Amino acid sequence: MDYILKCHEMTKADIVRGHNCYLYDANNKRYVDFESGVWSTVLGHNHPRISRTIQEQIDRVMHLGYRYTNRTAEEAAAALLEAVGLEKGKCVFLSSGSEAVELAIQVAKLVTGKSHLLTLSESYMAAYGAAAKQGPDEWLQIDREACRTCSDKATCKDTCPKADGLPFEEIAAFVLEPASASGNVRLPPEKLVDLLASEVKQHQGLIVVDEVTTGLGRTGKWWGFEHYDLSPDVIAFGKGLGNGYPVSAVATKEEVADLLEARTFRYVQSHQNDPLGCAVAKEVISVIREEELIARSAALGESLYDRLDEIGKRHEFVREVRGRGLMVSLELAGAGDNPITSVVYDEMLERGYLIGHNPRSNVLRFLPPLTIEENEMANLAHNLYDILETLGRQ
Ligand SMILES: Cc1ncc(COP(=O)(O)O)c(C=O)c1O
Repeated sequence: MDYILKCHEMTKADIVRGHNCYLYDANNKRYVDFESGVWSTVLGHNHPRISRTIQEQIDRVMHLGYRYTNRTAEEAAAALLEAVGLEKGKCVFLSSGSEAVELAIQVAKLVTGKSHLLTLSESYMAAYGAAAKQGPDEWLQIDREACRTCSDKATCKDTCPKADGLPFEEIAAFVLEPASASGNVRLPPEKLVDLLASEVKQHQGLIVVDEVTTGLGRTGKWWGFEHYDLSPDVIAFGKGLGNGYPVSAVATKEEVADLLEARTFRYVQSHQNDPLGCAVAKEVISVIREEELIARSAALGESLYDRLDEIGKRHEFVREVRGRGLMVSLELAGAGDNPITSVVYDEMLERGYLIGHNPRSNVLRFLPPLTIEENEMANLAHNLYDILETLGRQ
């Protein structure tokens, strides 16, 4: 790439087209995309209904000034609020997940008048702004690594040393990523989430859930927060909502929307409630329902998890397999910056698999489209096992 600014590491691939979980390069080499782009194409690349919706909406109107109402946005909001169980709530559509999370936490601070935010360590949330910075003046972080080795998991619903002494009265929101953890697929312990959520609520704080990665069926339920006993006040969506088209959203409970609107809350940006993004979001939700992709994600996720777990049991390189639905990771043994992670990634790429990898945390990651076929789980596991076996012999 001669003209694209190098903002991060890049893999030479020259992808020219896609279909479902498959991507093809200029030489027609096929890759199976176990990352769904950046965890976005829940319906697979170029789903025909999404392509048709985009074409039809482009012929009507793509973009409007944010001050003009449009029926497509209203319908998409109703569909999203219904899917998330906030029928009386309100919704605004933006473009990226970062914008949605940033707006969600600004909403929480405004509505509560409180200054601090609470989250678990390793939360990603955004590429910029206060959510990305997570500065110690504003954010309180619970070290989730300590939960792995904690010997007192049975009682942590009532007490947890990590929660002792937290200034709950100053906390505007507990901001939860229900599984992503900077792409490492770390599942927040249920009891810890219960404890923190109930303390924050008792002190008139809000529950903000970041569903940018876990939403739209990714975890085998519609929403990642459904794996917990939680009733979120504000929810941020992105990625899968557009199946690759950049649309995101923030939804709030009715009470939160009422408070905001009573304060003449103001937030504007160019692509707010754009008809094109809204048309896509509405169609994505319909396709998930009609193709029954939530149940499919749960079933295929179990199959993928079981296959990787089997590899884990047979292989000393594997420290842990984690997953919910079609969001699964395999952590390799060893300290940070494990070169094996990159060797496995490179070899899988050579064999035609796009998988996620994070060498700093030794994690390999698998988030394929919910429309992937079962046989691809077996193929992936076979190749992965083969590569680890070869490495073990070296
Ligand atoms: C949990 C989570 N929230 C928010 C974001 C930000 O989304 P975007 O990259 O669309 O701005 C990401 C991105 O990976 C994410 O994983």
